[in-house]
Amino acid sequence: MTKDRAQWGSRFGFILAASGSAVGLGNIWKFPYITGENGGGIFVMIYLACIFLVGLPIMIGEVLLGKMTKSSPVGAYGELSNGSRGWTSVGAMGVAAAFVILSYYSVVAGWAIHYLYLAISGTFEATNNSPQQISERFSTVSGDGALSLAWHAVFMAMTVFMVISGIQRGVERAARVLMPTLLLLMAAMMFYSMSLSGFSPAVDFVFGAHLDALSGASVLEALGHSFFTLSVGMGAMLTYGSYLKRTDDAIVASIAITVLDTAVALMACLILFPITFSHGMKAAAGPGLVFENMPIAFSQMPGGSLWAIIFFVLLVFAALSSSISMLEVAAAYFIDNRGWSRRKAVLSTSACILALGVPSALSESFFGWMDYVTSNWMLPLGGLGVAVFMAWRVGGKAREQAFAEGSKLGKIKAVYLLWLRLLRYFVPVCIFLVLLSGLGVFDAATP
Ligand code: TRP
Repeated sequence: MTKDRAQWGSRFGFILAASGSAVGLGNIWKFPYITGENGGGIFVMIYLACIFLVGLPIMIGEVLLGKMTKSSPVGAYGELSNGSRGWTSVGAMGVAAAFVILSYYSVVAGWAIHYLYLAISGTFEATNNSPQQISERFSTVSGDGALSLAWHAVFMAMTVFMVISGIQRGVERAARVLMPTLLLLMAAMMFYSMSLSGFSPAVDFVFGAHLDALSGASVLEALGHSFFTLSVGMGAMLTYGSYLKRTDDAIVASIAITVLDTAVALMACLILFPITFSHGMKAAAGPGLVFENMPIAFSQMPGGSLWAIIFFVLLVFAALSSSISMLEVAAAYFIDNRGWSRRKAVLSTSACILALGVPSALSESFFGWMDYVTSNWMLPLGGLGVAVFMAWRVGGKAREQAFAEGSKLGKIKAVYLLWLRLLRYFVPVCIFLVLLSGLGVFDAATP
């Protein structure tokens, strides 16, 4: 199996595809709205600390685990633990999470496609709709089960189309087009936002120290989101890492992916908030920040329909390069562990995911529950699994060798030790706190 296993066409292919996985709705839709809800400033600082002290060490561990074993999650844990049942089930939980996350992620992505369609058909022109009507549109769309379902199916079909052709011809090729386009569109929008009167209040909101907004709950929300946004804790980075060559530098690649993901999240804030503030709207608009505030603003700016089209293309592209990675995890399990053909694996897993998305499309409370279970439980547990496995279970020599292999940075002992200590002590403690907060232990302390 190892010999004819798929590989990235180039070192850059991995970085593009993995940052495509990381950069997604989490960066452009969710991060700005939770920043808005948590009062900006200090929340962003805490988020940055979580990303680099918790998320990055886990990502390096995950990518290395894939690179060492050349296997998708279930096989990877099995191989390095002599087939231990417990560890294999950590990998299996990741595969299960891929099904669940993609099923509701695709529903949100479907709304983004619908909004692209609305933008093209001129719905966000001031002459066609009032701000009130545009704002109400979101609850109509998200409340319309049949509509949500139809676009969910369209988005899943797009994802299948990309994944079915394999790693080099599908996943990598898609990332080569999606990622540069995404960055270009974001840069264009950011230049526009910089010209607005709301730009300096937005910079102050995002980077100023607003200490009053600090609460225990926001620390935990920042930590939870750092897993989601980096795509760690589920085996997506593990699976992508398994297509690396021995000579590839996993350490520098992980750092690059993390930096890029963070840059995009901050850019998204610097696009959304200036527009929001310039039109006298509030930062704490919740999930409607992207689907209500932005369309209202588009309807009031010159050339707004064009910006709206650009924005929703950007959102769909970001979602697509992420959904590809989730479908790849689900499919890779059946390809590697069950010996299925890629075609059969991709088609049957996506059919399951399509069906699993039906309740999310029909009921918002089900949707919220899926998001809660995966973000607050499955990803942190999966992250804890990788950290403990790589830091405590895997043999020290093999681990140190894997860390150094193909990487100049990885050969520096101090870097290795810093990573190992974070992964051994700091990361598990932080995750433990997230899990306790999920059980409601801190509820009384954080009103
Ligand atoms: N990171 C992506 C985002 O920010 C979502 C995502 C893709 C993901 N693959 C994942 C989340 C794997 C968790 C696990 O939108």
